[in-house]
Amino acid sequence: MSPTGHKPVVAIYPGSFDPVTNGHLDLIARGAMIFDKLVVAVARNLDKDPMFPVNERIEMLEAVTFDWKNVEIDAFDGLLVDFARAHGGSVILRGIRAVSDYEYELQMAMMNRKIEPQIETVFMLPGETYSYLSSRLVKELARLGGPVKGLVPPIVEERLRSKVD
Ligand code: PNS
Repeated sequence: MSPTGHKPVVAIYPGSFDPVTNGHLDLIARGAMIFDKLVVAVARNLDKDPMFPVNERIEMLEAVTFDWKNVEIDAFDGLLVDFARAHGGSVILRGIRAVSDYEYELQMAMMNRKIEPQIETVFMLPGETYSYLSSRLVKELARLGGPVKGLVPPIVEERLRSKVD
């Protein structure tokens, strides 16, 4: 129990984070404000071939979330709801940028609810500055020598540069 007498609400924020962008950080900041604890769950096994191995994705996330004491970073394999249960999570947090995100997010949320009805998916909107931002586009920009400043934290900018140079 928390000092206010309610059971602490643990939210799980899952994703590939390949790499973490300022849009993800915006959502982490919003999530950390309203949930007692936020666990950022980094998917280890991606169908898509990641640019950064999971340990680097975690390192970058740890560095950029250092100041938030109620934010933890962890990797996961297998079913997200199993990870959520193991961490005492009652909420899955996902960001929705545009209508185009909605269908995929709806399917995922409904499937997760079917497997584990006790866990609720909560959607939040990132700041409008980040509504067009994705890890995929950031990687494409970096590969083609475009500017990624302002789209990702400085540590990610450096790592992106060293990957593509
Ligand atoms: O932000 P992303 O990269 O689209 O993240 C997708 C992710 C990792 C959250 C999603 O693929 C996932 O939850 N994978 C775990 C497997 C799982 O639980 N599947 C059943 C729910 S559809």
